[in-house]
Amino acid sequence: MTDTAALKEIERLREEIRRHEYLYYVLDQPEITDAEYDELVRRLKKLEEEHPEWVTPDSPTQRVGGKPREGFVKVRHSSPMLSLDNALNEAELRDFDRRVRELLGGAPCRYVAELKLDGLSMAVHYRDGILVQAVTRGDGIEGEDVTENARTIRSLPLRVKDGLRTFEVRGEVILNRRAFERLNLEREAEGLPRFANPRNAAAGSIRVLEPAITAARRLDYYAYFLLVDGETYPDTQWEALETLDKLGFKVNPHRKRCSTFDELLEFCRHWQERRQELPYETDGVVVKVDSVEQQRRLGWTAKAPRWAIAFKFPAQQEKTEVLNIEAQVGRTGVLTPVAHLKPVQVGGVTVSRATLHNEEEIERLGVQIGDTVLVERSGDVIPKVVRVVARGANRRPFRMPERCPVCGGKVVRQEGEVASRCINTNCPARLKESILHFASRNVMDIDGLGEALVDQLVERKLVRSVADLYQLRPEQLMELERMGKKSSEKLVANIEASKRQPLARVIAGLGIPFVGERTAQFLAETFGSLDAIAAADEQTLQQAEEVGPKVARSIRQFFQEERNRELVERLRQAGLTFHHKRVERKGGPLEGKVFVLTGTLPHWTREEAKARIEAAGGKVTGSVSKKTDYVVAGAGPGSKLAKARELGIPVIDEAELQRMLGV
Ligand code: IVH
Repeated sequence: MTDTAALKEIERLREEIRRHEYLYYVLDQPEITDAEYDELVRRLKKLEEEHPEWVTPDSPTQRVGGKPREGFVKVRHSSPMLSLDNALNEAELRDFDRRVRELLGGAPCRYVAELKLDGLSMAVHYRDGILVQAVTRGDGIEGEDVTENARTIRSLPLRVKDGLRTFEVRGEVILNRRAFERLNLEREAEGLPRFANPRNAAAGSIRVLEPAITAARRLDYYAYFLLVDGETYPDTQWEALETLDKLGFKVNPHRKRCSTFDELLEFCRHWQERRQELPYETDGVVVKVDSVEQQRRLGWTAKAPRWAIAFKFPAQQEKTEVLNIEAQVGRTGVLTPVAHLKPVQVGGVTVSRATLHNEEEIERLGVQIGDTVLVERSGDVIPKVVRVVARGANRRPFRMPERCPVCGGKVVRQEGEVASRCINTNCPARLKESILHFASRNVMDIDGLGEALVDQLVERKLVRSVADLYQLRPEQLMELERMGKKSSEKLVANIEASKRQPLARVIAGLGIPFVGERTAQFLAETFGSLDAIAAADEQTLQQAEEVGPKVARSIRQFFQEERNRELVERLRQAGLTFHHKRVERKGGPLEGKVFVLTGTLPHWTREEAKARIEAAGGKVTGSVSKKTDYVVAGAGPGSKLAKARELGIPVIDEAELQRMLGV
């Protein structure tokens, strides 16, 4: 074959393969057999091997070209990927419709209804028609660059068909039920824990460091949003979906343009009834105002667009039998009764366990071993027992054990508390849970420190407290099951990298009862350092937002314990972040200005106004003092307005604030 002929043949094969991939992965209407498809790929690969200089990144052979990575690079989104407000029932959907029509001054308004697929959202950027970057939603402002992994998703085009060239698509990465079940079966066979639901599985799969693993997971991508130059494109959501469809993206065919609320309601009811028939999980319907011009008029709150809402389907419930109830020990030593159920399919997922929370809940439900109960699954939460539907003939009550089922230590239930706890701080179950918590995504984010590994680390006494993690060496890890040289080195590097996590995460990682991520953030912001928090008395601690007497006492108690103080010292020596770095925004139009908000503003919620002021460099405080520069007053202002007048502080309205912000 001459070079020209070879090049022509390569291009012809690529085009043909692309077409068959589209038919198979996007339309689900293959025209050739798998063997015939494989043959085409084989021929292309052979030609490309003979002419490596002609291999381009958008060639169908290049989906799994990427190398394993060290970690993911953070990327800022072109505009925030916010989430949606929920309508939990038809009345709330009606309220949404009323609000929209009111804000639009009664102008005619159409909606687009789309199925809400339960996965994770991802933005994908194309330049000159070629996929160049894929970014997970992350916190909505910043996500992770997962381009190499996204390229392995067969329904995501590496090169789009004719039409737009440079644009951004947003959509949902999902795993359909079949792929999910298959993945879990494989994991079980390998002795790995099952994924709780398809969403977790999809999220886990897009974030693995090895693209080949992502490729094997059979992820799918549904596009639902189109941006050109950072702006919604074209003039309506309906046309956006059609444009995406024409470009070769997978767009959910179950969508409807609705001119009336009744049409919308019908679509929602239809899919609420039939969601079981779909090959993937859907947890509701996303309703969007069709016209982009109207979307702009409606605008956004700090968290979500005012022009869209997620109508959530009610939780799915099934009946099954309680085979046993056992106490499980968590990281704070709390014993949680867990019902072991006769496996039952609830909304397409097998449920065999459900939490019963505590003894009071068991009493409230009146549930005993042997009863038939109604179990419910709602979104990603652990299945729960709703109520007893039939009492078992040989039912017997559950009793909280007096000794910890893991370490045999004493179990106590303190006065005024609903929880029973194992008080042995060295209990391996507590330790394992606390390590998993410490390493989890939203805390220290140590990738690769999963359950199987933590079990081994604790059982072999390599780790006796989270501080020991920072002493681990690759040689020690290599001796553990399923740990090679590379994965051991990678894990040690990930642990090392976690030292740079901000103070709030370190606080959350300590496992102080009642101190979660949010409270930890408030504590870090208020006190600025871990030492200041450790030294503060209960009164002082309550200066932090959301810290009341109960939380303050818990924090005090934590730092009073010798063992915990020792832990803190060891973490300090390891070099973790003990100081809060204030993000100062210099140069904003409101730099250095102090605001107090009072009353209800016409358009912005309090959170939104606060976020906007802060983004512009200003500060919002809770009470009026001589240091206050402006009081922003809305309808029904409180005593703050009077105080402002008394001190002669300028009082402005929302419109004035907007002028100052330049919006
Ligand atoms: S639109 C501003 N459309 O649901 C636009 N989201 O609760 C926001 N989702 O984060 C998203 N299917 O992960 C949109 N057809 C759809 C969707 C969808 C699923 C997810 C998405 C989003 C979340 C919002």
